[in-house]
Amino acid sequence: MTTLSPMNSTLIRDLTPDELPEVVMPACEARPILKGQTAIVTGASSGIGRAIACALCAAGVNVVVNHIGPDTDARRVIDQATHCGCDHRGLAIAFRADVSDESQVRSMFEHTISTFGTVDILINNAGMQLDSRVEDMTLARWRKVLDVNLTGQFLCAREAVREFKRRGVKPGVSCAAGKIVCISSVHEVIPWAGHINYAGSKGGVMLMMKSLAQEVAPWRIRVNSICPGAIRTPINRPAWETPEAYRDLMRLIPYKRIGEPEDVARLAAWVCSDEADYITGASLFVDGGMTLYPGFETGG
Ligand code: BGC
Repeated sequence: MTTLSPMNSTLIRDLTPDELPEVVMPACEARPILKGQTAIVTGASSGIGRAIACALCAAGVNVVVNHIGPDTDARRVIDQATHCGCDHRGLAIAFRADVSDESQVRSMFEHTISTFGTVDILINNAGMQLDSRVEDMTLARWRKVLDVNLTGQFLCAREAVREFKRRGVKPGVSCAAGKIVCISSVHEVIPWAGHINYAGSKGGVMLMMKSLAQEVAPWRIRVNSICPGAIRTPINRPAWETPEAYRDLMRLIPYKRIGEPEDVARLAAWVCSDEADYITGASLFVDGGMTLYPGFETGG
């Protein structure tokens, strides 16, 4: 019989939250790694989309802030993006469009191309949650989430690919003819009871993204996903806004801090840059370890 020796290193279960290191947030300088390019960021009037629009603008990109809500929200993002204090920042304009509507998506691409000449980057970010237990989930709630989160990403990606193929690679601008980033979720792999429409849409995004990446790679079009975990945005406010909720949330996050929209935005800017030129078809998780089976910190 084998005898197991007791573990001599400290595990998280032996510590209280006060004994963990204090959170230090990154302070990163904006670099002009996307100078002269144009991006459409869908769902950019709040949350992760807002932060990505600002990060791209700070990296030198002309940004179309797509939104569906009030113009004032989009205006606020444009002000923030264009007053970032970087000399190399791009311009920003707003465009209202429902990403699940084919003709509105077409108009958004036409307007972008007539304003800035082309589109180099699509950030497929617009998404929503309409949560219910399965027995209460109406067909309308199921369809709405699939329409926005999955069909919306397809419609925008299709227009983007058409423009990328038409224009081709422009040396001096980017090694790639275009870049698409799908904002997915940890729930493309983590099942989520009570959210089957949302998890279903993100599982769909995963294989749509990978299949599309395979299809368009020979044209030097790169397609990747970013899979955020719990990020401090309006979509999941109940999960972080009280100290009790925040403490519960930390049970799911080995890194022991919530994600901030800027954590996602930095990766989005980088993966669109030539520094990431050989990355395509990848699901990049930004989740503080949420996908590392955190229940096993103490269990098993
Ligand atoms: C959801 C959030 C949730 C997070 C982690 C995201 O995709 O939109 O509501 O907090 O996943 O579960």
